[in-house]
Amino acid sequence: MLKNILCIGAGYVGGPTMAVIAKHCPGIDVVVADVNAERVAAWQSGEPPIFEPGLKEVLATCLGRNLRFTTDLDAAIPRADMIFVSVNTPTKTFGRGAGKAADLRYWEKTARSILQHANGHTIVVEKSTLPVRTAEAVERILKSGDGDARFDVLSNPEFLAEGTAISDLEQPDRVLIGGAETPQGRAAIEALAEVYAHWVPPERILTTNVWSAELSKLAANAFLAQRVSSINAVSAICERTGANVLEVSRAIGSDRRIGARFLGAGIGFGGSCFQKDILNLVYLCERLGLDEVARYWESVVTLNHYQKRRFTERMIHAMFNTLADKRIAVFGFAFKADTGDTRDSPAIEVCRELLAEQAFVCVTDPKALPAARRDLAGAGPRLSFTEDPYQAARGADAIALLTDWREYRELDYDRIHAGMARPPFLFDGRNLLDAERLHDVGFNVYAIGRPELSRL
Ligand code: UDX
Ligand code: ADP
Repeated sequence: MLKNILCIGAGYVGGPTMAVIAKHCPGIDVVVADVNAERVAAWQSGEPPIFEPGLKEVLATCLGRNLRFTTDLDAAIPRADMIFVSVNTPTKTFGRGAGKAADLRYWEKTARSILQHANGHTIVVEKSTLPVRTAEAVERILKSGDGDARFDVLSNPEFLAEGTAISDLEQPDRVLIGGAETPQGRAAIEALAEVYAHWVPPERILTTNVWSAELSKLAANAFLAQRVSSINAVSAICERTGANVLEVSRAIGSDRRIGARFLGAGIGFGGSCFQKDILNLVYLCERLGLDEVARYWESVVTLNHYQKRRFTERMIHAMFNTLADKRIAVFGFAFKADTGDTRDSPAIEVCRELLAEQAFVCVTDPKALPAARRDLAGAGPRLSFTEDPYQAARGADAIALLTDWREYRELDYDRIHAGMARPPFLFDGRNLLDAERLHDVGFNVYAIGRPELSRL
């Protein structure tokens, strides 16, 4: 029976996952180590550095009982029976595979620290999304030591989505554990399965070989992103033909073989996983000589860029072909609702385009303003930020709604309309608002994949 778990990396994956494990496994001591002292201090204070509904409550059940956060990685490694690695794996920006392959420097550094400090038998668990066959590389590093430490490497990809991380962890559709097909590998899989068995029904714990687990994670994200790109492609047809994407997605989604979820047209997908994982998959296919397969998956990302561009082009076209010196209120900057995360948020590209058109852009978001300030740093005096959507819209020529925050549905649009320049435009990039009602209020409404409701 495991006694000590260590997780390296206290980010969006490591923090919530370890909090839920510690909550359900009071007999296991869980330590989470990170190089970022500020992050560690925030977690340890009970005020997590990330916004995630329900996380604080879970943390309160186990922090100081069997969960703690530390920067002292070297001291934590030798005590651990099992080490989860959830450090970041951004896309490479340099050298071979730049723009596609994963930058594995944090991973390799971590593997070397483990090798240096571990003793006895340690199970190392890949938690970050990684290119297929990373486990093999990690294993080679770990086996390169001449000490008597022994390692098993498992792949246990995380399927949580931000904003619903706690419920995804509490009631996962499945837990996937990949390991070596040897008696020792099977014993390691069993040890990890026992941890999840504290709260996950056994039929939901799937075991596979390591590469199937690694590939399943990339493929799952690629499938989900492909659905979003597919409906976004349909939204472009809708805007040209007078079809309504909401009606089309309801009609498609009621086919049980297709299903209703992930058919929401919008301004394109964002987040730290979809684009990164697809590009990883593309790189893998290229390396394997599967060029047609690579191009197939790449088109999902190409369509996503097109969708963002299409949104700003529609704005420019509707507003008499110029945005110069016009005021645009940007409602929402996070890559989706219920998170302060802006990694790969489509809002970044949209705002940059609006600024390039020399518009004045005022960004508002309930949780993501600190990140938005970092993402758009250096954009100059045409850019401003406010927490108050009413203030953002005051005197504006247009509202561009970019994140599906529920609170934007509750705003007083009569009041907003009264304070805006004339004619007032509303571009709903998420089909969040009641377009017909807003048209009645007096807006010229342009919602994704729907005919314009113009008063001009
Ligand atoms: C995703 C996967 O869902 C999760 O399983 C994996 O572990 C990590 O990547 P996440 O990035 O947190 O999770 O968010 P998700 O809810 O999948 O949304 C991704 C993007 O797609 C967001 O920008 C969202 O707005 C967009 N999206 C999603 C749509 O545009 N339409 C939809 O119908 C669904
Ligand atoms: P994810 O969304 O995959 O969880 P994050 O960027 O939120 O990614 O979290 C990754 C965390 O890993 C960060 O807090 C970062 O400081 C941490 N990290 C990166 N490299 C190391 C390392 N060598 N040792 C410990 N922590 C690390």
